Amino acid sequence: MLPPAWRRLTLAVHIICSVGWIGAAAAYLALGVAAQLSQRGQLVRAAWLAMELTGWYVIVPLGGLALATGVVIALGTPWGLVRHYWVLIAFGLTSFALVILLLHMPSVTATAEHAAQIDDGAAAQLGGDVLHPGVGLLVLVFIAVLNVYKTAGPDRVRPADPVAPAAARPRQSPRVNKAADKRIGPDLYESQRTSSGGVRGPH
Ligand code: HEM
Repeated sequence: MLPPAWRRLTLAVHIICSVGWIGAAAAYLALGVAAQLSQRGQLVRAAWLAMELTGWYVIVPLGGLALATGVVIALGTPWGLVRHYWVLIAFGLTSFALVILLLHMPSVTATAEHAAQIDDGAAAQLGGDVLHPGVGLLVLVFIAVLNVYKTAGPDRVRPADPVAPAAARPRQSPRVNKAADKRIGPDLYESQRTSSGGVRGPH
């Protein structure tokens, strides 16, 4: 298991890389749409050159780091890699997205090199790159939302949460308690064990 300080550090890097990947994919999509819609050869050429650089030097490294840190934090915490379906889904979809990205990037390089050699008239006819970044962005946003909804760490433990001792807890409807129970994660089980004693975790 990762010591708490390492878990925090890994989680910070994980969030920076995975959410940064989403931002870089959005920037790539803007370039791809601009190249698709524009009739100006210079703009289309510039967009393809920028897509190639952004793809290889920002998107691919961030994607690799998001996957690597995700695996480390899954294996290094009670979440595990195969214990919870949401971690498996994140792992599968992220791996799939990364493979598609790596298979797609050589064609981006080829188009960027071609765009650098042709005149403005021909460059204007190149078109853009919308499908790959568009679908990729949807997949990444889905993973991010899934991960945020399915995790529950100590930051989420507020006095109103069910881990607080019953006497200190404001009155809640049974529905709220049930939903909160479902969200519970390894950290909450830890604090339950220490605050109220003897509560079993998911493992
Ligand atoms: C694009 C891909 C990914 C995105 C956008 C993403 C996003 C996030 C975010 C925002 C969190 C923080 C949730 C919170 O604390 O509120 C998180 C946590 C987490 N992610 Fe990911 N993630 C991705 C890929 C992965 C992968 C591939 C794995 C596992 C193989 C993974 C496993 C985890 C785990 C286990 C946590 C909880 C860590 C903890 O409680 O200390 N993630 N992820």
